[in-house]
Amino acid sequence: MTDELASTVTDAIEAIRSASSLEALRQAETAALGKRSPLAALSRQLGSMPAEQRKDSGARLQEARSRVSAELDRRRAELEIAERSRRHEAERMDLTEVIGESSRGHVHLLSQTRDELEDVFVGMGYRVAEGPEVETDWYNFEALNMPPAHPARGMWDTLYVRWGEPESTVMRTHTSPVQIRVMEAQSPPIYIVAPGRVYRRDTPDARHLATFHQIEGLVIDRGITFGDLAGTIETFTGSYFGPGIHSRLRPSYFPFTEPSAEFEVTCAICKGDGCRTCSDTGWVELGGCGMVHPNVLRAVGIDPEQWSGFAFGFGIDRCAQVRHEIADMRVFLDNDIRLLSQF
Ligand code: DAH
Repeated sequence: MTDELASTVTDAIEAIRSASSLEALRQAETAALGKRSPLAALSRQLGSMPAEQRKDSGARLQEARSRVSAELDRRRAELEIAERSRRHEAERMDLTEVIGESSRGHVHLLSQTRDELEDVFVGMGYRVAEGPEVETDWYNFEALNMPPAHPARGMWDTLYVRWGEPESTVMRTHTSPVQIRVMEAQSPPIYIVAPGRVYRRDTPDARHLATFHQIEGLVIDRGITFGDLAGTIETFTGSYFGPGIHSRLRPSYFPFTEPSAEFEVTCAICKGDGCRTCSDTGWVELGGCGMVHPNVLRAVGIDPEQWSGFAFGFGIDRCAQVRHEIADMRVFLDNDIRLLSQF
């Protein structure tokens, strides 16, 4: 039986190695190990052998099967790689007609806007910070002076993530939680901006998106006043939007600042005369700001008797919309090359 077994194995391995496709390999596998294979026939003979010999032959037969199987696995892996690259090659799309030979991709308008806003603040001595888009209730609300069930939580239509206790994990509704993360990680003085994506349970329209981008600012130092805040906002407005565009602050409410304000800039479309985009007011709202609430400082262990500061947060998408006079914000998410290639 030994000679017969050896040549059976050699033949099987030969057939496996020369299989040139996965289908051919499947056939070789059936021929080598299937019910009608020589190895199966040899197995059947084991039954009629005396016990001693059966044990010996059984072990050899098992070894033969293992060698054939290992060879099958090796060849299958080879053929799979070859088949995959053949498929990729076949599915390759010719996009030259769509994009034209000389045009290259470039950074999306919203990313360009984020970079420019960062540059303005870096130029004023700020550092750029980041935080996660999936947040805990503590960072998104509680540490920002909104204990559980605080009515101001309703200012944000929140998307919850199924994780941990019910409603303990959220898609961040604003970039303000980054303030908390930064204050936990470093001690004052602090000068940071934190750009990033935020999420709301909202229906998009011409001036709102359900996922959009904000840039948060936080300054904590000794003797910071509301005047510093107003001056910073005006400096930013002038450097980002250019001459002729100014800012104004109007009293407002946010739980994490006191006093709080809403900040608006001259409508770039009508230069302040009044038009449809600004509802005839001559101003467009960009975001909120204020003096950091002492409770927020206490939540991160900063002494409000020693340190004070201001914070602001505004829409990056809104900035791009105002500056480039884009009537409907929803185009930012369409990825339409005809729009993107203009910027
Ligand atoms: N987080 C607020 C929002 O999304 C905007 C905001 C208001 C941010 C006041 C601030 C602030 O830092 O001080 O509506």
